Amino acid sequence: MLAIIYERQGQPKDVLQVVDLPTPTPTGNQVLVQVEAAPIEPADLAVVRGVYRTPQTAPTIPGLEACGRIVALGPDAKHYQVGQRVMALPFKSPGWTNGTWQQFWCIEETELFPVPDVVDSATWSQFFITILTPWVMAVEEFRLSQGQNLLVTGAGSTVGQVLIQISRLMQFNFIGVVRRPEQVQEILALGASHVICSSTEDITQRAMALTQLQGVNAVVDAVGGTVTSQCFRALADNGKMFVYGLLALERESAIDIRKMLFYNLSLQGFWLPGWWDKSDPQYRLQVTQNAASLVAQGYLTAPVDSIFSARDVKEAVIKAESPGNKGRVILSFMD
Ligand SMILES: NC(=O)c1ccc[n+]([C@@H]2O[C@H](COP(=O)([O-])OP(=O)(O)OC[C@H]3O[C@@H](n4cnc5c(N)ncnc54)[C@H](OP(=O)(O)O)[C@@H]3O)[C@@H](O)[C@H]2O)c1
Repeated sequence: MLAIIYERQGQPKDVLQVVDLPTPTPTGNQVLVQVEAAPIEPADLAVVRGVYRTPQTAPTIPGLEACGRIVALGPDAKHYQVGQRVMALPFKSPGWTNGTWQQFWCIEETELFPVPDVVDSATWSQFFITILTPWVMAVEEFRLSQGQNLLVTGAGSTVGQVLIQISRLMQFNFIGVVRRPEQVQEILALGASHVICSSTEDITQRAMALTQLQGVNAVVDAVGGTVTSQCFRALADNGKMFVYGLLALERESAIDIRKMLFYNLSLQGFWLPGWWDKSDPQYRLQVTQNAASLVAQGYLTAPVDSIFSARDVKEAVIKAESPGNKGRVILSFMD
């Protein structure tokens, strides 16, 4: 079977290799999944580079998420049947050493979640990182109500675009921040209420003006550095901010402590695996089912920029990090 491996960490285009490996046989409670689609997410590339949360020592096959179909069951597997469609839960160890970037993925059945056929594989393959992350931040954690203002940096990112859909569905006012002026019209066309361009405008001043000097109720920040500082200053009384990405690669941000103190502001990191681990299993299952049902009904989707054959992984990883993508770059393992 075709698999993508790396033997040393480094730039993905340099270290990723396409190889032919024996198809594994499921044992115990494992199942064998024929992978249809696997996304290339920033976290996957950070793992390959060795700069993700925990540097891994013996990486082989990357890939945190996927959608595919079960083609064989181990002797003790009892929750699935051959032919069932599933997506991967990206929260445990498999993505570090036995990831999803392979044609046939042998995995414990507890690492999977069933999905219906009504939605395509490219969407389901990125459900947890791209759809559940923004859903949990905006709806479950912030608990914003109709008409409140949500400021989102990296608004053109795949997660940012899902936040536009969530805002429309829940009737929040989505104020996006982008770095390129030409992106302003694109993000407005997707349904943002307002878009601020960080390279030509001061985020704090513009956000305050847009909210009649009240400030925004919540911020979801994927960028870091000075963007974080400017967004934090734009929070309203009792405002809340999550930092969930480090796109600018700046580890430090200046925070206005006086404003934090007198306006009861909160600033917190958000990492989906951490939220998953600390959440009650019944509650997180319920949240997952609610969000998955909105996907199945067509209310939420994960934007796709392009689909590459897994054989062309080097071109695909370059495209995944090119400016101006309209959504996720997906690897197909079906040809
Ligand atoms: N904490 C979590 O649990 C979690 C979950 C999901 C995602 N994330 C993180 O969230 C971030 C966004 O993820 P994604 O999958 O949505 O990304 P993505 O689809 O790959 O999009 C990346 C976006 O970031 C923009 N960008 C790149 N560098 C930037 C910079 N220095 N300043 C401002 N914007 C910049 C790009 O804009 P251009 O079009 O201008 O290039 C593009 O819109 C990533 O850092 C990812 O690791 C975290």
